[in-house]
Amino acid sequence: MLDQIALLKQDQKHLLHPLHHPDAHKAPLIIESGNGIWLRTLDGKEYIDGLAGLWNVLIGHGNTELADSAREQIAQLAYCSNYVGTTNLPAIELATKLAGFAYPNLNTTFFACGGAEANESAFKTVRYYWKRKGKPDKIKVIALQDAYHGATLAAMSATGITPYWPMFEPRVPNFLHIPAPYPYRFKGDVKAGETIGQAAASALEEAIVREGPDKVGAFIAEPVQGGGGVIVPPDDYFPRVREVCDEYEVLLIADEVITGFGRTGDWFALRHWGVQPDIISFGKGITSGYQPLAGIQISDDINEVILCAPPNEPWMHAYTYSGHPTCCAVALKNLEILEREDLIERATQMGQRLLTGLQTLMEFSCVGDVRGLGLMCAVEFVTDRETKAPAGIGDKVRGACLTNGLLTRTKGDILMLAPPLIISETEVDKIVEIVRKGISSVHS
Ligand SMILES: Cc1ncc(COP(=O)(O)O)c(C=O)c1O
Repeated sequence: MLDQIALLKQDQKHLLHPLHHPDAHKAPLIIESGNGIWLRTLDGKEYIDGLAGLWNVLIGHGNTELADSAREQIAQLAYCSNYVGTTNLPAIELATKLAGFAYPNLNTTFFACGGAEANESAFKTVRYYWKRKGKPDKIKVIALQDAYHGATLAAMSATGITPYWPMFEPRVPNFLHIPAPYPYRFKGDVKAGETIGQAAASALEEAIVREGPDKVGAFIAEPVQGGGGVIVPPDDYFPRVREVCDEYEVLLIADEVITGFGRTGDWFALRHWGVQPDIISFGKGITSGYQPLAGIQISDDINEVILCAPPNEPWMHAYTYSGHPTCCAVALKNLEILEREDLIERATQMGQRLLTGLQTLMEFSCVGDVRGLGLMCAVEFVTDRETKAPAGIGDKVRGACLTNGLLTRTKGDILMLAPPLIISETEVDKIVEIVRKGISSVHS
């Protein structure tokens, strides 16, 4: 029998966790196993994994097919370098599978381990592309307020959730932020006759003009902002963004690290609006989190620029674990399962059920907004629907949900829900009931 108190002490003494502060880590759950949408702690309690790990465990926990694929690949060839001059079978097969899979114009993949590494790769590729095109000053990257793009220095500088910044500043220069297409709380100017989607896209155009189109290399956005609070853009936003990017020769990077591989009810989320990006970053769901794998896909145009470079101008970017055979083998099996089980359609259906269920929570006056796309939903709390003043109860509701067996995360007053795509109808209903109970125990 493991001594839980001793383990906690060891953890607190020896482990630095993401977003660390000791106050937030006084009584962490020690998760011992997972099965489907359920997590089990060392002391035998069961919790619904309401955020599918960190949005990534699409096929749920405990899938032995993925375990077998990892074991077989490790026995065959666990690792080899993917630097120019060597390659491996799973990496070739996966890159071939991904060619044109997300968007028809993206046929070339570079693999990384995590989303931040993927975004770093995207930013460097933007610089490379414009340098090779004879426009070396196009280095600015415009991003959205409340965006999350990762925590390495450049990714953090692109991230628009400001608490990530202060203790690590100065940020990398040449990243700037514009208002998010956040229908419930749009922070930009809306001119007469403009929709919020148009106004948010105008904010991009204005920023490009202000900074100088010859200085702006790319615009990066999550199709649905995840960590920022599940911000679903209006339908007219991304089509107009694409037009603006084309007009000013600015590359469009879609950060599909959360939205990629089905979470929103389409394989990739910009497809909801018929928009093709120039680069996507992906991660998380490609392996359902069973192995760390991420990457970028680049347009044929960008790829051509890399392919026709002179020998002294190679795309000198690299990671030891790029194209890791075991991670790629697991990704291939994970994609096979997503396709075979039709989990993208399931995300649409269960997402609709979850959203409809959560909308019934509008019966509480402290619920200001309920939103979502596919299996990516949020409930936002306010003190008053008119003023939309924050209620300051997000953490309390999250705590009450935890007590009742639902583990999830909040951003301030926004409770976020994104369970595994394999979730059943009754499990969706259970989530709604636990959130209802959580709100009623906090709401006076
Ligand atoms: C949209 C998005 N991009 C990038 C990242 C960074 O990914 P990672 O934590 O794997 O570096 C995340 C992580 O949550 C994310 O949500």
